[in-house]
Amino acid sequence: MPTPTLLLCFADELPLARRIAAASGMALAEIERHVFPDGELRLRLPPQLPQRVVLLRSLHGPNVKLLELLLTARTARTLGARQLTLVAPYLAYMRQDIAFHPGEAISQTIVGEHLAQLFDAVLTIDPHLHRVATLAQAVPARQTLALTAAPLLGDWVFRQCPDALLVGPDEESAQWIQAAARAHGLEHAVCSKNRHGDREVEVVLPQVDVKDRAVVLLDDIASSGRTLAQAARALLAAGARSVDVAVTHALFAGDALQVIRSAGVGRVWSTDSVPHASNSVGIAGLLADALDSVAPA
Ligand code: R5P
Repeated sequence: MPTPTLLLCFADELPLARRIAAASGMALAEIERHVFPDGELRLRLPPQLPQRVVLLRSLHGPNVKLLELLLTARTARTLGARQLTLVAPYLAYMRQDIAFHPGEAISQTIVGEHLAQLFDAVLTIDPHLHRVATLAQAVPARQTLALTAAPLLGDWVFRQCPDALLVGPDEESAQWIQAAARAHGLEHAVCSKNRHGDREVEVVLPQVDVKDRAVVLLDDIASSGRTLAQAARALLAAGARSVDVAVTHALFAGDALQVIRSAGVGRVWSTDSVPHASNSVGIAGLLADALDSVAPA
C-alpha cells in the first residue's frame, strides 16, 4: 500500500494544488496564514501530519515566501513529517549564480542551501541554470528533480500554429527551444542577447529568414518583458508575419505585458507554474508523475 502523503499549500495556490492532488491522489490541506499588523506571519498547519509531506510553493515574489518555507518546514518536522518535499514550480534566485561585482551575494548558492537544509527533496520546472550544470549543484538537497515544461509548450504551440518558427530570445533558451521543437519537428533558431541593465537588453536575430513567418518566441521566464519585447521588435522589423510568445514562468513584473504588447506581440501563453491570465498549459500532471519518483527518505 502506498505511504499516505499530504500535499500542503497556501490559499493563493489552491487551484494548482487541487489539480496536483487530483492527478496524484494525494490528500490536500491548506496552511492558514495570518499577517499581523506589523507584517509578521503566523502560520498554522494541520496538527497531525503523516510521515510524507509535500509543500507546494511557487517562488514568484520570493522574499516573504522564503520565510514561509522556513516556518512551514520546521513546524512540519515537529508535527510528524519525516520526509519533506518542496514543489516549487518556479524556483527563484537562480539567475544570480556568480558575483557579477565584488561584494555581491551569490543568491543561487545561498537560497539553494537554505532550501536543502529544510527539505529532503526539491522539485521544480525549467530552473534557470546557466553557469551551473545541474539543479543538485544549486540546491544540494538529498534529491532534486528539474522537470521541463518545454515539450508541453511545444505541443501547445504546434496546436495553435503548426507552421510556427520557434525562436529563443537568447543563447540560454537553446535548451528549451530544442526540447519544445523536437516532438513536432518545428523549425527553430536562437537569438543572441546582451543585457545592459534590468530593463535594457539588446537582441540580435539569428541567420534565418523570418519573412512572412509566424514566429513564436519561447523562453523560460518573462520578468520585465524587455527580452521578449526587443526580440519581437527585431523579428517584426525583419518581416515576420506575426510574433506570439510562450513562456514557462509568467512573472510579467510591472508593465511587462504592456511593453510586450506595444512591441507588436499577439498571443501570450504560459504554463500555470505562476498564476497569470496567460496560463494555457497545465503542469499538474507533470508534477504528479514526478512526485511518484521521489525516493523515500
Ligand atoms: C534570462 O536569460 C532568462 O532566460 C530570461 O530571458 C530573462 O530572465 C527575461 O528577463 P526579462 O523579461 O526581464 O528581460
